[in-house]
Amino acid sequence: MTVEKITANPVLQQLPPDLLRERLPRHVAVIMDGNGRWAKQRGLPRIMGHRRGTDTLKDILRCCKDWGIPALTAYAFSTENWGRPLEEVDFLMTLFERVVRRELREMMEEDVQIRFVGDLDALPKSLHLEIDRAMQQTSQNKSIQFTVATNYGGRQEILHACREIAAKVQQGLLNPEDIDESLFEHHLSTAGICDPDLMIRTSGEMRISNFLLWQVAYAELYVTDTLWPDFDRTEMHRALAAYQQRERRFGKV
Ligand code: FPP
Repeated sequence: MTVEKITANPVLQQLPPDLLRERLPRHVAVIMDGNGRWAKQRGLPRIMGHRRGTDTLKDILRCCKDWGIPALTAYAFSTENWGRPLEEVDFLMTLFERVVRRELREMMEEDVQIRFVGDLDALPKSLHLEIDRAMQQTSQNKSIQFTVATNYGGRQEILHACREIAAKVQQGLLNPEDIDESLFEHHLSTAGICDPDLMIRTSGEMRISNFLLWQVAYAELYVTDTLWPDFDRTEMHRALAAYQQRERRFGKV
């Protein structure tokens, strides 16, 4: 079903009645895996999978907003993804740029705040400019916090935070004993966004793949064999229903 058809269908826009609004995750993180396999299964070039995956992401963002989930973070490009064939990397960079430019008006209309995390300086300059523009223009939007991890690596993010903190200690601005979880979190690129309660990975792999390593300490993991381009509202409903069945103990008994 296309994004347009879903938006026109009021039943799919509502939170499914079996889900408890008060027990929804406040933040969902997604590892959007399986675009290439989805395309291959159809005899299409891999890039078609990324294109379809973009439509899926747009609908899942809308779904989170419609159902009352205030934050969504998507892993769009890891620091390891530069190792893919040059034409696929080029395609993805161009896709990101085109999508950010094309969707900005709609994000403003729908009150979406977009943020990009990762080493953005290494991205093509034109993409970086679009990203800066979108982040700046949407910074006051309130309906949903949408974070896109691009050229992102969890270990790199942690190292970056360590370097910033070490520099402050060296300058005498901070004592080592002042370093606690809260201070550390302020130096991560996700500062100001609560930790994900639920991390979803599509296409069956049981890995975290260097995504939000610090932030997922207590997240519930949900892995589905469904490939990302096929991950729709029905799949999201399943993931949320599974999440609501979990007993979250945060290390306690
Ligand atoms: C993983 O599937 C997917 C990616 C590396 C790219 C994800 C990007 C998008 C869905 C576009 C998002 C757009 C914006 C603007 C944020 P894979 O290629 O690793 O699939 P495979 O494991 O089947 O090969």
